[in-house]
Amino acid sequence: MRIAVIDGPNLNLLGEREPQIYGAVTLEEIRRSLEETARGLGVELEFHQSNHEGDLVDALHAVRQRAQAVILNAGALTHYGLSLRDAISAVRLPVIEVHLSNPDAREPFRRTSVIAPVVRGRIAGFGAHSYELALLAAVRLVDPGAGRR
Ligand code: DQA
Repeated sequence: MRIAVIDGPNLNLLGEREPQIYGAVTLEEIRRSLEETARGLGVELEFHQSNHEGDLVDALHAVRQRAQAVILNAGALTHYGLSLRDAISAVRLPVIEVHLSNPDAREPFRRTSVIAPVVRGRIAGFGAHSYELALLAAVRLVDPGAGRR
């Protein structure tokens, strides 16, 4: 099983970016921890990060043939990225929307997610742990018997 982890704008600055909101963990540390969990589950991961919407659309297109699910933190594009939203419905892969913070508990503009109608589900508010929870959800989605055999 192969799962793609895609991160959008400003997530490359995790660790130094508003740590009171997003925590002190870097994207590299999140990836290392995900790799460790994935190894234990026999899952392969691939990672993409870009600050540009078109690159994220390209990444979704590229993984559609080789991954079975996507974990996506779209950053602020969550709230207005319509070409990203269209790419999610175009590729027909199950996408799990992830956020470190809980956008619903923040500024009003964060309460709109244009990708929410086309993702499989959303995990938000658990800091870096949101990614781990999303990985477990993705694995279960792709192989409901995973970890139970
Ligand atoms: C975020 C929440 C978004 O509103 C914000 O623009 C981000 C990060 C999160 O992980 O909490 O860049 O997606």
